[in-house]
Amino acid sequence: MSSFPTIRMRRLRRTTGLRRLVAETHLHPSQFIWPLFIKPGGEATPIPLMPGVSQHPVKAAGDLARRAADLGFGGVLLFGLPDTKDDRGSAAWDNQGVVQAAVREMKRAAPDVVVVTDVCLCEYTGHGHCGVLNGDTVDNDATLELLAKTAVSHAEAGADIVAPSDMMDGRVAAIRHGLDDEGLGDTVILSYAAKYASAFYGPFREAAGSAPQFGDRRAYQMDPRNGDEAMKEIAMDLDEGADLIMVKPGMPCLDIISRAKDQFGGPIVAYQVSGEYSMIKFAAEKGALDGSRAMWEAATALSRAGADIIITYAAPELVGQQ
Ligand code: PBG
Ligand code: ZN
Repeated sequence: MSSFPTIRMRRLRRTTGLRRLVAETHLHPSQFIWPLFIKPGGEATPIPLMPGVSQHPVKAAGDLARRAADLGFGGVLLFGLPDTKDDRGSAAWDNQGVVQAAVREMKRAAPDVVVVTDVCLCEYTGHGHCGVLNGDTVDNDATLELLAKTAVSHAEAGADIVAPSDMMDGRVAAIRHGLDDEGLGDTVILSYAAKYASAFYGPFREAAGSAPQFGDRRAYQMDPRNGDEAMKEIAMDLDEGADLIMVKPGMPCLDIISRAKDQFGGPIVAYQVSGEYSMIKFAAEKGALDGSRAMWEAATALSRAGADIIITYAAPELVGQQ
């Protein structure tokens, strides 16, 4: 290879047209999954820790689905804020529950929109942990059937994809069997396979009302110090029947996304989580950076690292940016 001054790297950076021509990474709305917080009634409530994001009532679900369709999004991801919580999180598998109702509304309003539902118990348990408790610890095996019941009820309501985010061992297999036993063999499982115990979920806990009332999630979510372990988690979830696997959070895990893509191929889903979103928003509000450029750059980095699909609260504002 020849070198400077024969080669000048700046030649291809000179104009918008040249830069676009040689761009290696392109964000398209069909890659975006838009997360939405659904509550039973009332009006949309802005989430102070997530500027630009609101909790929406079930009655708005149809409009949200049409908006997602108009923007050309790959899908939406639903989180439920139930009316009532209990020790076991029983509102999670209530056929008349908030997510189930929203799914039905959305599929009625815009049947082609891919509806993904988050499957976990932390929004539904009074203690805020992702499974049922045995003393102070989350009981892995006792949680599995509840997750499977929840996934089945989402799928019966019409969800295209169920996405378990609890990090119990064996949940993908339990959910796959639960779905198959109910004749829901076509329901896709998107596993939060490599999900870290991350400080970047902070704003989400306000948005979804799901903060643990004691302790933290480090006994079930992954230790941020580990990378090899993420490859093992992904391999196991694929083996148990996951159709799609996710890495979460996004920007702190670019290495994990890249390794996952190399080792397993696509599609890899990356989640730009609440804290990643909010830190850009708040920094922009303070004038520290250009928020829309920073959001685009962050999403582009996920794509460049190997993410085929990106879950992001910024999906609407990313459309058309390059
Ligand atoms: C529930 C769940 C969480 C997120 C997605 N599903 C919170 C958590 O695990 O504590 C985080 C999403 C975000 O921060 O945007 N298990
Ligand atoms: Zn949870």
